Amino acid sequence: MKKFIPVNQPLIKKSDIDTVIKCMESEWISSEGPNVKKFEKNFSKFIGHKYGVAVSSGTAALEIAIKALNLKKEDEIIIPNFTIISNILPILKLGLKFKLIDCSIFNWNMNLSKIEKLINKNTKAIIATHIYNFPIRMDILRKICTKKKLIIIEDAAEVIGQKIFNKKCGSYGDISTYSFYANKQITTGEGGMLTTNNKLLSEKFKSLRNLSFGKKNRFNHDDIGWNYRMTNIQASIGLNQLKRIGSIIKKRHQVGKRYFNNLKNNKNIYIPEPKKNYAKNIYWVIGILILNNKYKLNAKKAMAKLKEKNIGTRPFFWPMHKQKLLTKYKFNSKDFKNSEYISKYGFYLPTSLKLKNSEIDYVCRCVNKIFCD
Ligand SMILES: Cc1ncc(COP(=O)(O)O)c(C=O)c1O
Repeated sequence: MKKFIPVNQPLIKKSDIDTVIKCMESEWISSEGPNVKKFEKNFSKFIGHKYGVAVSSGTAALEIAIKALNLKKEDEIIIPNFTIISNILPILKLGLKFKLIDCSIFNWNMNLSKIEKLINKNTKAIIATHIYNFPIRMDILRKICTKKKLIIIEDAAEVIGQKIFNKKCGSYGDISTYSFYANKQITTGEGGMLTTNNKLLSEKFKSLRNLSFGKKNRFNHDDIGWNYRMTNIQASIGLNQLKRIGSIIKKRHQVGKRYFNNLKNNKNIYIPEPKKNYAKNIYWVIGILILNNKYKLNAKKAMAKLKEKNIGTRPFFWPMHKQKLLTKYKFNSKDFKNSEYISKYGFYLPTSLKLKNSEIDYVCRCVNKIFCD
């Protein structure tokens, strides 16, 4: 293929452009303005939570979520080991304690069967992050957390519109966070959201995103907050994209299904299937895992080969226990065998909504050629 196929590309429609122009013309360009509130309302309704608070990124949403819990230094949070750094950054910044949990090999989310062993009297919350593939079984996690009185922060950044048993991802968390970065199901360029059913928490989120201005004396501030506000322009794009989330999800599923059908017979790689009894796969990305190492190919080498064929790819996340930021914790690699494997042998293929069938078929031909018997 002559033209490079990027790993992702946002699909910007004329109506997205028109809405930005309209917003600029209205002169409501900062976070003040009607679109932010409307986006919060429509988005939280779409998820099935009462309150939505729009912020500047998914990372900002996680920072606010964790700070709003008002945890003490001895309190612990359980987080996935195989995840984005944004899950652990707020914990490190607030000096809180944490426990890491390994992922499942063919699911890539935290292994739910290992959670109960990690819970002790100081455990207060769990960050449940849906990663790349099928969602976490939030129905199962909810039962464990209710029994153990733990708060769930559901990181649904990658799964906007995904359902588990007909209930939306995000609606299971006590607090849920989302990202609207350019590669997400809907985008505002940069942006994020928190949703919850708890009014007090939603007020705390609003205060923290806006410098925690004093309630009595505006410039005598109530807490150490941030400027994590979303602009009215970003919200206008979000509102417009939310209107077509149904067709976006449908297209992602179709793209994933085509990849799956082209690659499913290749026994040397694993690609998640389009459907399980609890969920349809909406393929935020087309992740694949190298199963057979007779080719002496790890993800890095396979990705280099695909680059020669003008195909953009991205490696999987680097697990937390191997982050140089965290060396002082001296983790035991044996506890994180699955994360180690998938971070070395997993990567993802072009996933854009703009992909043509011929491009998907070309990528699959190249992948099948690299991993042929
Ligand atoms: C699961 C997850 N959480 C959080 C984030 C961070 O979102 P943002 O890039 O908007 O800060 C991402 C980004 O890709 C993500 O995949």
